[in-house]
Amino acid sequence: SKGIGTLVIFGASGDLTRRLLLPGLGQLVDLGRNPGFHLIGVGQDAMSTSAWRARVAKSFEAGGATGAKARALAATADYVKADVTNPDDLTRIIAMCTGIPALYFALPPRVTIAACTALAKVELPAGTVFGLEKPFGTDLKSAVALNRQLVKLIPERQIHRVDHFLGKSTVLNLLGLRFANRILEPVWNAENIASVEVVFDEKLALEGRAGYYDHAGALVDMIQSHLLLVMALVAMEPPSSIDADDLRGAMAQALRATSVLGGDPASSSRRARYTAGTIGGRKLPSYVKEPGVDPKNHTETLAEVVLGVDNWRWAGVPFTLRSGKALERARKEIIVTFKDVPHLPVGFRGKPGPAALRISLSPDDISLDLNINGQGDPFTIDRVVLSTEFGSGELGPYGEVLSGLLGSDPTLSVRADEIEECWRIVEPVLAAWKKDAVKLEGYPAGSAGPASWRRTRSSTSR
Ligand code: BG6
Repeated sequence: SKGIGTLVIFGASGDLTRRLLLPGLGQLVDLGRNPGFHLIGVGQDAMSTSAWRARVAKSFEAGGATGAKARALAATADYVKADVTNPDDLTRIIAMCTGIPALYFALPPRVTIAACTALAKVELPAGTVFGLEKPFGTDLKSAVALNRQLVKLIPERQIHRVDHFLGKSTVLNLLGLRFANRILEPVWNAENIASVEVVFDEKLALEGRAGYYDHAGALVDMIQSHLLLVMALVAMEPPSSIDADDLRGAMAQALRATSVLGGDPASSSRRARYTAGTIGGRKLPSYVKEPGVDPKNHTETLAEVVLGVDNWRWAGVPFTLRSGKALERARKEIIVTFKDVPHLPVGFRGKPGPAALRISLSPDDISLDLNINGQGDPFTIDRVVLSTEFGSGELGPYGEVLSGLLGSDPTLSVRADEIEECWRIVEPVLAAWKKDAVKLEGYPAGSAGPASWRRTRSSTSR
């Protein structure tokens, strides 16, 4: 087996490691999905072994992982103070690893690139696996450069570009929903579908992440990575298997066909930034007044792009991807809106809306909005909603993607070409925004977005 013997986390003292990585890892270990391994944390600050072990145990607990296996992993974890851009330090760390190492880069892109350059001078054991966090590069050029550097070190299949959205249960359930039911695939096309929306509205605001977010913004933070991959799963052709080559090949093919609708970001994208406001009793300052924010960056906290998929299946269907922070309501869903019926028999009363399928990412549920003859007057069309919760997976999203990493199975990781396509798709939008071809609008924190957006928002919104 190609099981991993040691997991090395670079950036061990960072926020990502504490908040997301370790809790997911603890859940995974507790479930016993993967054979045992040794955990080594690497950071630039000095930390005692016992302090690190306590930190790991605390993060495991935060993820609900309090079982014997998780406790044992925390109790045997090691910590190394090292400079990950120094080949000698890296060689020393690799020498500490038992079995095949997995190196997880929970680092800012700049440091990841420097570490990968340093790794060229280090001999890596056969089978070594890398885990790389988003943001993967800061634009197409840097992503391509990083990909080139990575394949000089290890083969593509051993490079796990982590996108935790691919570990979300709703996202995974899209596969079963689409391909294990005869009723959907025959109508899953431009002939029958009017529009697709992928919406990820959050109530959360900046939450102290200015150092990262003020250089990313909503488009890069959410759409460039997470939402485009979700869209690829909606738009892709049925793969013949869900192994790493077939699934990622189908997603990549869908992404290659995708670009800004009409080729004009000025008419197919919008951006806005929150101003002061209140969300559920919580007072928020204007984004530009948040500590660490530079107003000159013109960072958007709400972004929307309308994309088209240029192939036989989807030609002409708008795919709207939107994500924003500090909004009134958390709304995280995929909405597939069907076309109207070609003819509604004369004599019906009422104005039916189009049928719509909603796949919610949080909470995990699916609903289908349909028209029927309602109660009362049998010739009046009423709306009903068939809805079911399907529960979340046994692992959280991070646990799910880490399971792939520790099992050396890259199915749920993002392949080099997918990442590059995602950057290619958003680059014209970033360029148009940089030139101010699209106005940066404002919306009060806790509102539903700019007033001008609400008027034109799709009629399918609940
Ligand atoms: C992260 C983004 O990748 O995903 C955050 O950087 C965002 O800004 C988060 O809040 C959303 O993911 P989740 O798992 O909280 O739904």
